[in-house]
Parts: sequence; structure tokens; C-alpha cells
Amino acid sequence: MRIRNNALRSKIMSAEDAARLIANGNTVGMSGFTGSGYPKAVPQALASHIEAEHAAGNPFKVRMWTGASTGPELDGALAKVDGIDMRLPYNSDPIAREKINSGQMNYFDMHLSQVAPMAWQGFLGPLDAAVIEIVGIREDGSLIPSSSVGNNKTWLDRAEKVILEVNSWQSEALEGVHDIYYGTALPPARIPIPLTRPDQRIGEDCLRVDPAKVVAVVETDSPDRNAPFNPPDENAKMIAGHILEFLTHEVKVGRIPKELLPIQSGVGNIANAVLSGLMDAPFEGMTAYTEVIQDGMLDLLAEGKLRMASATAFSLSPDAAERVNREMEFFRDKMILRPQEISNHPELVRRLGCIAMNGLIEADIYGAVNSTHVMGSRIQNGIGGSGDFARNAFISIFVTPSVAKKGAISAIVPQASHVDHINQDVQVIVTEQGLADLRGLSPKERAKVIIANCAHPTYRPMLEDYFARAQKESFGQQSPMIPSEALSWHQRFIDTGSMLP
Ligand code: COA
Repeated sequence: MRIRNNALRSKIMSAEDAARLIANGNTVGMSGFTGSGYPKAVPQALASHIEAEHAAGNPFKVRMWTGASTGPELDGALAKVDGIDMRLPYNSDPIAREKINSGQMNYFDMHLSQVAPMAWQGFLGPLDAAVIEIVGIREDGSLIPSSSVGNNKTWLDRAEKVILEVNSWQSEALEGVHDIYYGTALPPARIPIPLTRPDQRIGEDCLRVDPAKVVAVVETDSPDRNAPFNPPDENAKMIAGHILEFLTHEVKVGRIPKELLPIQSGVGNIANAVLSGLMDAPFEGMTAYTEVIQDGMLDLLAEGKLRMASATAFSLSPDAAERVNREMEFFRDKMILRPQEISNHPELVRRLGCIAMNGLIEADIYGAVNSTHVMGSRIQNGIGGSGDFARNAFISIFVTPSVAKKGAISAIVPQASHVDHINQDVQVIVTEQGLADLRGLSPKERAKVIIANCAHPTYRPMLEDYFARAQKESFGQQSPMIPSEALSWHQRFIDTGSMLP
């Protein structure tokens, strides 16, 4: 039996009845992180209710906070009916993305480690309701967390009322995998977080909730979104190869130990391909202190190359999710899922010395990275946890194919059209063309290495030409630039569909 507490059993109701407890204008905290552990039934019922209200001529929108991206049953369903007024943080849902980019929906893609602290600091306003997916409820009323932890602890603590979705699709063997740290506080009472190893447990295996706040319990049996990853293509394999060569060299010269330092691997296809590449690498007994456990990590864990992985959520393909559900007994002592304010905490990333690997949209010749905005204005996903890790990592690596959209876009540009990660937070850039190690280089030295090692041969002469002229014409010579030309490649793409002249 999944719901073992009698008082909370008495609150079981339909998703439709539970959704009616959310009112127009409410701020709602939802569970969910990169497509796992998000509520499925109540958001869809809420979307139907909103659609009916709109058809009757009544306004109805909610402000929505999550852990990170969710699934079509949540972001997709609510965005489709224009039910979201403002959403934070990270989103990857295509319908929500379209509404944001057409100006119909407000969105703030804040650093993932900062969401919970800012909610506690009172910066985000009051939280009317929380809708949280869980695996089960124990006799004492404590909650067994689901396939993501995200901001659930904070939403349960801060919300006026709580709706729980108990999802029996999730493996019961998830019980005991989580580590929920209740020691955070606001300044001046904040104390150091006592975590010094990725495999350390510092909290409890369950979430607490005040039963008086629980207004509904809804039973579901639905799979997580689990978007499939593309199989690694040639580019991804070459990028992985460059990174493995680099890490091998770092071990050889004694800058990192032979089991490496805890790995952080970002979202997306390339990051997943790099993980697959680690299967053939000479590193044993590795650890991961990261945001999500992806497909590529499962084989590493199964082979013992990765000793353990600490994250806040799963982000798996459908096949991998079935595998985790089936083999949870094997994986459970090799994984820890924590609140995202802990998995992404700058203090911990800096202390553990993570090797961060994140994807990018574009980088400029000085190494400033745009992770979020296509042509400076269209959001792709959001900054997610990349800023949490990039600034604080032992080595901060960014990866990308050198061109996008069949070569019409260069990922290396004279000037980034939007900056998420400043030069100081970007130490290594890798494309299929090669790797640029930027540590200790001046801006002009960085430009030479990035153009030579990372740019696609089609765009390399154009970048060399721009950089040579900038060194003659620029107002200053620390980071030479020609302002009237710096974003001209983007304008050309907007006008003609290609950055090529
Ligand atoms: N211009 C236009 N579009 C671009 C582009 C560019 N310079 N670079 C990438 N894209 C597009 C791709 O064409 C693709 O679009 P499609 O889905 O329509 O085919 C999409 O962005 C994804 O690119 P892809 O090359 O498949 O890379 P990815 O899956 O590795 O994702 C990011 C790359 C940058 C979008 C992704 O890593 C991201 O959202 N990062 C920000 C958050 C983050 O780093 N989180 C991890 C922290 S723990």
C-alpha cells in the first residue's frame, strides 16, 4: 500500500476535484526536474478547468514555480491553454517556449541553486499552493520522494496548501535513495553545509509536511516524460574524444587525481555523449556531483567505472527509465538524490572541485558563453544549473558542435549576442574541431586559440579577418572589437537565414 497514513488516506480525491482548489491568480509550486517527478494528473485537470473558464469568458492564469523543466502534461498542457502568467525557473517544453518567445508568457530562467533560497528570502512573493509528486506516504505522514527532489522541500514548507500526487508507476525501491537536508537557514543564521564528499549523506530520506496543510491526495500511475536522447553522432564522439584526451593529460601532469574529481555533466545530447565516451576511458572509481543522472551514467555505474552519482533528479530516455525502475535494487546504493539547492550549491561545487561540462548555444572569440538565447532574443531553454557549476567548478568546460542549423550558424562568433557565462567562468571550450584551453590566457591569446582550435573551417577565415581588423581599428586593445560589426553575423542570419555572406 502506497498511502500508509490514515489521516492522509482520508484526503484522497480525484485530480479534477483537487485542481478546483487552485484559484485564478494563485502562485503554485510544482514538483519536477528535467522531465522526472512532476505531477501529471492535477496539472492536466487544471488545464481543462482553465480552458473551460476561458471559454466562459473568465480570466484564469497561475504563476508557476518548478524545480526545472517538467513534461507535456504540466508545462505543455498549461501553456497550451494560456494558463501560465509567469513561470520560473528552467523550461524546455516546446509549447511554453513558443508562448514565451511570442511574448504571451513571462519567464525568468534563474540559477537553479538560487530558487529555494530566494523563495525563503521572500524575494518571490507568497506561495499559495504546492502540487508534489511522491512515491508514497509512510505511517508517520512523512513523504517518500519521487524521481526528482528539486525544490519540493521548500514548496512543502512554504505553501499555504499542499496537493500530493502519489504515483505508483515510480519504483518503491526509490525509498532510501534521497538525502533531504533540513539545515539551511537565512543569514545571519546560515552555517556551513557539512558535506565534504559526493557520497556523503547529511539529511533525511524523506520529505516532511504539515498534515494540516494537505488539502488533497491524488493517486496516479503515469510514466515520467523521459525524452529519448539522440545516439551520439560523429561530432559528439569527437567532442568526447577531445575531452578525454584533455582529462588524461590533466591526470598525467598531476593537476587532478586518477579517479578524476566529481563530474558534473549538463543537459543535452552532447553532454550525454561525453558520458558514454567515459566508458572507454582509463578512469576508474569516478564520482559524479551533478544535477541529473542521465542515460550515459547508468552503464558507467553498472560497470563500476562510476562509483556513485549524486544529483537532484533523473533525466532518462524511456528505455533507461524502465531499466532504472527494474534494477533499482542494484542502483539504489550507488545514487543519492538531493534538493537542488544542495546538488547545485556553489559552496559545495567549489569545495568538491567539480569538473563541469555544459552545452552552449554560442561562444565568442574571447570565450564569453551564451547558453540560452538564439540570436540574442529567442530563449532556447534557460541557464539551468550551468551558472552554478561554471563559476565554481575546478575546471569549467563548455561543449558544442562548431556549427548549427546545417552550417548556417557558427557557434563561434565575433561577439556573443547574449552572455550567460563571462570569460572568467569559461576555462575550456570544445567543438568537434578541437579543444581550446583558456586557463591563464589574456583575451587576445584566448581569441587566437578559440579561432584556431574550435571554429569551423568555413567560418575560421571570417573570424581571423574580423580579429585582425579589430586589432587595428578597436577603441581599446584589451579585448579588441568593432561595435558596428560585432553582431552583424546575427543580423545577417535574421535577414537571410545564414551567417555566411
Ligand atoms: N543558434 C541557433 N540554434 C542553436 C545554436 C545556435 N548557435 N546552437 C544550438 N542550437 C539549437 C540546435 O539547433 C538544437 O535545435 P533543435 O532542437 O531545433 O534541433 C538545439 O539548440 C539543441 O542543440 P544541440 O546541438 O542538440 O545541443 P544540446 O542538446 O546539447 O543542447 C543547449 C545545447 C545549450 C541548448 C543545452 O545544453 C542547454 O539548454 N543548456 C543550458 C542549460 C544548462 O547548461 N544546463 C546544465 C546545467 S547542470
